[in-house]
Amino acid sequence: MNAGKEETLKQKSYSFSHHSIFGIEQLSAEDIRHILATAASFREIAARPVKKVPTLRGKTVINLFFEPSTRTRTSFEIAAKRMSADTFNINASTSSTSKGETLIDTTRNLQAMAPDIIIVRHSAAGVPELLGRHVRASIINAGDGAHEHPSQALLDMMTVMENKGHIDGLKIAIIGDISHSRVAISDFIGFTRMGAKISVAAPQTYLPTGVEQFGVDVCSSVADAVKDADVVITLRIQLERQNDSLIPSLREYSRFYGINSEILKGAKDDVIVMHPGPVNRGVELNPDVADGRRSVILDQVANGVAVRMALLYLVHGGKRKKKVQGEQP
Ligand code: CP
Repeated sequence: MNAGKEETLKQKSYSFSHHSIFGIEQLSAEDIRHILATAASFREIAARPVKKVPTLRGKTVINLFFEPSTRTRTSFEIAAKRMSADTFNINASTSSTSKGETLIDTTRNLQAMAPDIIIVRHSAAGVPELLGRHVRASIINAGDGAHEHPSQALLDMMTVMENKGHIDGLKIAIIGDISHSRVAISDFIGFTRMGAKISVAAPQTYLPTGVEQFGVDVCSSVADAVKDADVVITLRIQLERQNDSLIPSLREYSRFYGINSEILKGAKDDVIVMHPGPVNRGVELNPDVADGRRSVILDQVANGVAVRMALLYLVHGGKRKKKVQGEQP
């Protein structure tokens, strides 16, 4: 059989089978390609005068956020609304967990109202997966502690695809606070699964032990990591996840790890610069880069809506009978 025919048959037999999205780890390269292709097909809806399709009409989507968020929460809400779903936002201060109810009880109570999809952000790693064992609704992880942020990695991959046409063989430099970053972990898994080479640079206190297990090259300087890079991803310093200061000062961090036009001279001419947001301006990124021609930060945000539309659509379409913990067979 020729290669083209084999590929067509493979595509025909493929179906997305994930009821929930807890992390990039669970997704194969084929799943990722399928999500990105689905997201690309949804991208043009944002340019229509009426930005709405009926795909999820009558479905209920709950945003359950126990940590602050601007981009992710708004993006999931816009994505759900663009697909005509009914959406509800619950945050930590308005949730009954603030009155002592357990997270599992809160989520079971929400399940009793028959939502179809629950989007969860929490400061503790593993919460979305834990809740997924107790509810019928699909769960999408919107960031859990320093574990994973799958929709961010998918929108990062979509932005790279859009700009470079492929991911395979690219050199991607990831700079900054890797220890506390769920984005870094999801990006490591996703980009390497799609064939990219990743170089990292960070202060020693921001490098988790065993980071090499993700198949990334650890560089001793930003200049080494950025050398000949196609993509530079800078990470936010996650001050809210640190008990003690792990760097002498923001000024010093900016001097050695901040991305500016000078350091980018070592990268490829057509390098693109990304950041998951929110940006600490003048710390991780100099304004000349953040607002310059290489920055695709706002493209990432725009692609975030398309990626989240794709996830909502696919987990809903990938529905199968699900056994819930504690339920009789
Ligand atoms: N990138 C990201 O997760 O941003 P928010 O914290 O604003 O959702």
